[in-house]
Amino acid sequence: MDNRSIGVFDSGLGGLTAAKEIMKLFPNESIVYFGDTGRVPYGTRSKDTIIKYTHGDIRFLLSHNVKMIVIACGTASSAALPHIREDYDVPIYGVVDAAVYEAVRVTKNKKIGIIGTSATIRSGAYTKYIKEYDSRMQTFEHACPLFVPLVENGHFDTKVTELLIEEYLSDIRDAGVDTLILGCTHYPLLAGAISRFMGSDVTLISPGGEVAKFLRKKLTDELRHDDIPDKNQYKFFVSDSIEQFEELGSIFLEKTIDGQVSKIDIEKY
Ligand code: DGL
Repeated sequence: MDNRSIGVFDSGLGGLTAAKEIMKLFPNESIVYFGDTGRVPYGTRSKDTIIKYTHGDIRFLLSHNVKMIVIACGTASSAALPHIREDYDVPIYGVVDAAVYEAVRVTKNKKIGIIGTSATIRSGAYTKYIKEYDSRMQTFEHACPLFVPLVENGHFDTKVTELLIEEYLSDIRDAGVDTLILGCTHYPLLAGAISRFMGSDVTLISPGGEVAKFLRKKLTDELRHDDIPDKNQYKFFVSDSIEQFEELGSIFLEKTIDGQVSKIDIEKY
């Protein structure tokens, strides 16, 4: 039995889309979550900066003796993970391959839309993996840099959200995709408004949710994790204001995390 926690990180709230699914699928697993709210957004930064932040985030989680790390951030998964994976002994999982696997599985017309931060779209990671699975797939990408600040400020479904969705997603909708990868883990918090715009016949893929499903196999196969731990413990850390994270995090997780969030100085890691 391995009672160590699963480490999960993101630049902010978005990675909770993965944490929530992990809590649901593995109710006995403990989680240490880090939201780098002091340095959000990652998606507008250079690759070097994203790699530097990712190393710091991983070192922080390792200081909590986690047994595996989930990079619940599309940006760090696309721009940093390929460059740092070999640097650590614990297994590290990103969200890109899990989301791609599901998108390729569900699309019928082989037209897949991908939205993400500027760094994610610049990396081309989602399209690269999709083409590796099936070179006949067509992809349609768009960067949506203003979605992350919207989510971090609680604009899940407002007039501003609707306007930006129209601005960013019109071309992808007009291309006739039947599947849309919400390639940044913040975006599923806008899923209601995005789905209304795209239409109910377009399947939305949440990378955070998909990586949690992906872990099921890893937890049983790779770690020989046949026995499940006795009881869970959830710890949340941020690098800026606790209050905002507690408030929005509690709404999103549908359970209160008041009093469970601590602030750390990520620059020390
Ligand atoms: N949730 C992160 C992602 O998946 C947001 C990136 C950002 O901070 O810009 O890409």
